[in-house]
Amino acid sequence: MLKRIAVVVLLGPLLMLAPTAGLVANADEAMVALGKEVAFDRRKGNCLSCHMMDNGSLPGNQGPALVAMKARFPDREVLRAQIYNPLEKNPHSIMPPFGLHGIISEKEVDAIVDYLLTL
Ligand code: HEC
Repeated sequence: MLKRIAVVVLLGPLLMLAPTAGLVANADEAMVALGKEVAFDRRKGNCLSCHMMDNGSLPGNQGPALVAMKARFPDREVLRAQIYNPLEKNPHSIMPPFGLHGIISEKEVDAIVDYLLTL
């Protein structure tokens, strides 16, 4: 009995490590999917009303096209700050402070950043 417990205690954590790698990749994909959903949702991000992005239809052009994001935003935090509160960088911005005003949740802000970095 004790031997069996010892085996479980010792091997348990090792066995748990194996599937985690796959889970992390799935979590990333889920965040990217959530980010796109929130960005395109007219009642949430509604980013398309001002930005051309991805395969979104009928985009507005008040903001710059969201392309080559990873190259243009090597620092993830700079991109996150733009979505959380654009007024920090440009006090006259017409882009809504999505995070600061709670228009979308913290998690949704992170998901949008994950998604934008795939564009
Ligand atoms: C009402 C129009 C409007 C909406 C809605 C809007 N933006 Fe913007 N966005 C702008 C403008 C204008 C700029 C130019 C910089 C500034 O004024 O802040 C900008 C800048 C940006 C930038 C910096 C781009 C660059 O090339 O420097 C990013 C990234 C961005 N917006 C992402 C988003 C995302 C993601 C959403 C949706 C969650 C969104 N925006 C919604 C108007 C908007």
